[in-house]
Amino acid sequence: MGAGRSPYSAKPLGEIITVAHTKGGAGKTTMTFNLAYSLAECGARVLVIDLDQQTGQSAFIGEREVDSKTDVGAVLLGYAELDDALITEVHPGLDVLPAEELSLGSASEQIDDPEILDRFHTLIDTARDRWDIVLIDTPGHQSRLVSTAMRRSNGVIVPMVPEAGPVTELPTILNTIRAAAETYRQPEVYGIIKLRIWGNSVYRRVAEEQIRTIAEEYGVPLLHNKVPEDARFGEAHLVGLPVGAYEHGARAAVAFRHVAYELIQLRGWRFTVPQVDL
Ligand SMILES: Nc1ncnc2c1ncn2[C@@H]1O[C@H](COP(=O)(O)OP(=O)(O)OP(=O)(O)O)[C@@H](O)[C@H]1O
Ligand SMILES: [Mg+2]
Repeated sequence: MGAGRSPYSAKPLGEIITVAHTKGGAGKTTMTFNLAYSLAECGARVLVIDLDQQTGQSAFIGEREVDSKTDVGAVLLGYAELDDALITEVHPGLDVLPAEELSLGSASEQIDDPEILDRFHTLIDTARDRWDIVLIDTPGHQSRLVSTAMRRSNGVIVPMVPEAGPVTELPTILNTIRAAAETYRQPEVYGIIKLRIWGNSVYRRVAEEQIRTIAEEYGVPLLHNKVPEDARFGEAHLVGLPVGAYEHGARAAVAFRHVAYELIQLRGWRFTVPQVDL
């Protein structure tokens, strides 16, 4: 059975999902774009919004130029309409609202300005109406813009490398999400997804066990499918592609496909996917 869009999917799902981790280099951008690609392969209409002004998206949108008049910052500052800034069909079913460093930096600094905040809420409302799944890439530090995005999200995905440093950070991230959810009733943690898995050392297995224990303690799902360490990511970045578009059969591409299938099953989303062992 192949993956595909359900014939009943007239109204978009409207799922807003932040990909969050409080540290830099944790795999957020890799997770956002590769998962977006795999979800689009399953028939979802997907939008990626880049809210990281140190924008890592260029590794995924190839040669396309992004300037300060046609990025998410320009939309928030009122210089551009969403459709002027959108890069549509970067891959089938996948659109990107890119960021330009200075423009997003300026919008982010002024997010408490009522007009800018209002435009942010309008952007999220519009995205909810037009796309099935909206994945928001965030920077590796807390900011008002990130916490606002988090509060407007239905769900959060936490990428997690099973190593001592990132694992000690996990309770902090989950506490931040919990605090938002206590006040605003969302977001919900849709899943912790392990990535950069290599070898089978005792050290790695201990770290994986710690992640499992923390996930249980907080009552949040830890996805069974995980993403291996794979040099293909670096190669794919160089040519501006998600790993699945770079080499369909690569181990990492298959892993991301399975992560997408598992997430779709866990959430009960209406896209048809092959059965994945959970
Ligand atoms: N599974 C993997 N195998 C190999 N390399 C990986 C894997 N996942 C991520 N990387 C690499 O790790 C680096 C950091 O990843 P990424 O840019 O996704 O992190 P980030 O959390 O977005 O960082 P920042 O906070 O700086 O935005 C990148 O060079 C990426 O190619
Ligand atoms: Mg990043």
